[in-house]
Amino acid sequence: SEYNVAIVGATGAVGTRMIKMVEQSKLHVKAIKMLASKHSAGTKVKFRGQEVTVEETTPDSFTGIDLALFSAGGSVSKQYAPEAIKRGAVVIDNTSAFRMDPDVPLVVPEVNAEALQQHHGLIANPNCSTIQMVMALEPIREKYGLSRVIVTTLQAVSGAGNRAIKETLDESRAYLDGKEYTPEVLPVKGDKKHYQQAFNVLPQIDVFEDDGYTHEEWKMIHETKKIMCGGDMNSDDIQVTATCSRVPVPVAHSESIYFEVLDKNATVEGIQDAIKNFDGDVLQDDPANQIYPQPINAAGKKETFIGRIRPDLENKGSFHLWNVSDNLLKGAAWNSVEIAEYLDEMDLLRV
Ligand code: A2P
Repeated sequence: SEYNVAIVGATGAVGTRMIKMVEQSKLHVKAIKMLASKHSAGTKVKFRGQEVTVEETTPDSFTGIDLALFSAGGSVSKQYAPEAIKRGAVVIDNTSAFRMDPDVPLVVPEVNAEALQQHHGLIANPNCSTIQMVMALEPIREKYGLSRVIVTTLQAVSGAGNRAIKETLDESRAYLDGKEYTPEVLPVKGDKKHYQQAFNVLPQIDVFEDDGYTHEEWKMIHETKKIMCGGDMNSDDIQVTATCSRVPVPVAHSESIYFEVLDKNATVEGIQDAIKNFDGDVLQDDPANQIYPQPINAAGKKETFIGRIRPDLENKGSFHLWNVSDNLLKGAAWNSVEIAEYLDEMDLLRV
């Protein structure tokens, strides 16, 4: 079929990548609508060589739309996703607004495409850090079983949007020039204090919960369970814990992951083979030749890059790996468009 597509947040860090991913996708696009806030209404963006005028998002923006891709913040999704669905669109939402709703599939197509069968017009795209982690772990789980995961993330500033990228670059320039700079965005736009990100690491992504974990860490725990444990966000089949940090990298998140498998005969070579044969994963694991994944190489690519796979030296059946992926592509725009491609192929791109 041919689809009328809307991109909500078309001027943002993720939205601009969504445009590119739709351009490159197998989807047949009849027409595309670029939606943002009233501030950028009237500006122009390109789609397949044609200029398209950005419009302010209103409920009626969704009249006649078949597929709406949202990445303009949770409150925009909460306000307009129901309006889009009411008008007959299927919504793929990149925010955290609906991810934990039991009626909303949370999908990484290579891992749990079958969950798409249950959609009621809305599919949630997981958090960027969750996506690349389950991309690395799913082939291992399929082959050896998985009981425990401990992850530490090193996340790029683009995860916090275009303003965070600009702030980090301006701050870096000011720092090198010996000038004062007052941060206003990072670590979290809405939190009380702001800290320097340039030449610094901040162990805070999203706001703190009462238990001492940040909301980003909470998301990694419960989204991973929902995706890998049949939709149960509180499953104890896999124990997961996370520490999330922000590093002064523009694009592509890195993760150091410790994991325990059920099959105690698991080997590094077996894990490498499983990853090599998994759609969307690329093995970059050759320590003798200093081959391992790096953000500057992963930026702009759709795949998840995995390396440094090694056994824990003291705990049999436990391993470590290093994982890098473009947080704006597989972590957001590409995963969303890939969901749309799967829906189309499964004849599910309709309410
Ligand atoms: P705008 O450019 O008009 O502000 P980022 O993640 O890079 O910060 O981008 C956020 C995206 O969400 C931008 O495209 C932004 O549009 C859009 N946006 C922000 N607020 C709204 C709103 N109230 N309605 C629709 N889009 C919004």
